[in-house]
Amino acid sequence: MPNSFALTHGDVKLRIVRMRDAKAIQDLVLSNREWLRPWEATNPEAPQSFDFKAQIRGLLRSMDDQTGMPMVIEMDGRVVGQLNVANILYGSVSSAVIGYWISPEVAGRGVTPTAVALATDYLFNIVGLHRVEIAIRPENVASLRVVEKLGFRYEGLKRGYIHINGGWRDHLIFALLADEVRGGVLNRWLRGEVPAVEYPRFEEKD
Ligand SMILES: CC(C)(COP(=O)(O)OP(=O)(O)OC[C@H]1O[C@@H](n2cnc3c(N)ncnc32)[C@H](O)[C@@H]1OP(=O)(O)O)[C@@H](O)C(=O)NCCC(=O)NCCS
Repeated sequence: MPNSFALTHGDVKLRIVRMRDAKAIQDLVLSNREWLRPWEATNPEAPQSFDFKAQIRGLLRSMDDQTGMPMVIEMDGRVVGQLNVANILYGSVSSAVIGYWISPEVAGRGVTPTAVALATDYLFNIVGLHRVEIAIRPENVASLRVVEKLGFRYEGLKRGYIHINGGWRDHLIFALLADEVRGGVLNRWLRGEVPAVEYPRFEEKD
């Protein structure tokens, strides 16, 4: 995987994170605590770190060892969020998971589904993966809309899957296989050909 490349559609650009993005990411994360906190992964054994340079260093290490593809989402040359591809496995598994967040300033404009579609198409067509997965808390209505828009298929409920906002949270698992979207995830969405996504509605309390 190259260290530096960009994927674009309209005014949405996805590119590999750089150390010099630390300040922009810090400003966005610190000024949007209420927006992000319910969905942010936390460490059960340590307080949350706001050392953004250390976080980017960690993300870039995943790029070096080819287990991750850490990206920022830009609009008009400005960082507005992050999309992180993690847990990349090759060979007989050939899969990865995608996580994301954006600034509330640009929410509701289809920026995240565009970024997820661009990343998924890249992982299938360029990296050669076979499966891409997204895990979402049952109460995250906005994020559920992202997978619904793109037609990620519901696969099941993982109990206590990720430590988020101070507790082990259940997650709904959605996935796509490369064979299911041969014409491209972005194209399928733009053409209005995404099949309906069925999944059970669960209630979970903090
Ligand atoms: C989830 C998230 C990434 C969606 O990004 P987005 O670029 O706004 O995605 P979309 O434009 O497709 O909007 C998705 C839904 O968000 C909701 N939404 C729209 N505008 C909104 C706004 N201004 N504020 C809050 N939610 C809004 C709507 O339900 C929308 O669905 P709709 O288009 O059917 O009305 C974003 O809300 C976010 O970063 N949330 C906080 C972090 C998070 O939840 N990350 C994902 C963890 S799995």
